[in-house]
Amino acid sequence: MLETLIKANNLSIKYPNTTENVIDKTDFEICDNEIFVLVGPSGCGKSTILQAVAGFIPADGDLSMSGQKITEPDWNRGVVFQNSSLYPWFTVEKNIGFGLKARGFSPEKIHQRVDYLLDIIGLSEQRKSKTFELSGGMKQRVAIARVLANKSELLLMDEPFGALDAFTRFRMQQLILDIWQKEKTSIFMITHDLNEAIRCGSRIAVMNNHDKKIIQTFSNQFQGIDVENIDDFDIEKKIDKFRSQILNLINS
Ligand SMILES: Nc1ncnc2c1ncn2[C@@H]1O[C@H](COP(=O)(O)OP(=O)(O)O)[C@@H](O)[C@H]1O
Ligand SMILES: [Mg+2]
Repeated sequence: MLETLIKANNLSIKYPNTTENVIDKTDFEICDNEIFVLVGPSGCGKSTILQAVAGFIPADGDLSMSGQKITEPDWNRGVVFQNSSLYPWFTVEKNIGFGLKARGFSPEKIHQRVDYLLDIIGLSEQRKSKTFELSGGMKQRVAIARVLANKSELLLMDEPFGALDAFTRFRMQQLILDIWQKEKTSIFMITHDLNEAIRCGSRIAVMNNHDKKIIQTFSNQFQGIDVENIDDFDIEKKIDKFRSQILNLINS
């Protein structure tokens, strides 16, 4: 059985300038070493949940990481957004090592870690490029490496590939699966792409438009499969069924 990393109990979230809860008494767990994917319609509160887990916004109820209440952002929870802002005039390697430098790691340690990450994201040759020169997919790879540099126990990704073309997106999904296996990290990822959810998720949590909470969480037996190119008819049928089950819940 996997250990619980994040535990949310009776979690409710309200924005300061509004009267109604955006999230109302939701419960969920993110386990150690899983990719927990959250899907749901636009505006249902996915990003709100992620931001509370990151510690950016306060929440009512219980929200903890490894038994400790989440009250503020922490290096242990690294965040990647759809359009992560890098330092455009810094080189790729400087962007990746920035957090380590801020935390006072030695230049040798930083160099070692940055080398390793450049290799993982396939940008060793671009290490001296300024990030404004990079393509969207490359920028997102740098953003991911920058967060990984900190060895955060939990990686939070809010629609990280939403702005990328289908081909780049596909490669980024593979990269995430590779990183997840190499780094043994836990990931909380939001996507509105069900194929991405099924390809990447260890478990898939679903929200709809009105319940203001996670209404169901599925174990996913298809993780790692290239959902859009299956030559086995049986598996294809099973995935179709799973996809419509999730879709029905999203629309419920
Ligand atoms: N800063 C904010 N202040 C007030 N309401 C907000 C704020 N951010 C988001 N909301 C509202 O909270 C709801 C959930 O938003 P969000 O979590 O961004 O949804 P999702 O990520 O699922 O698209 C929406 O109705 C949105 O308008
Ligand atoms: Mg969102």
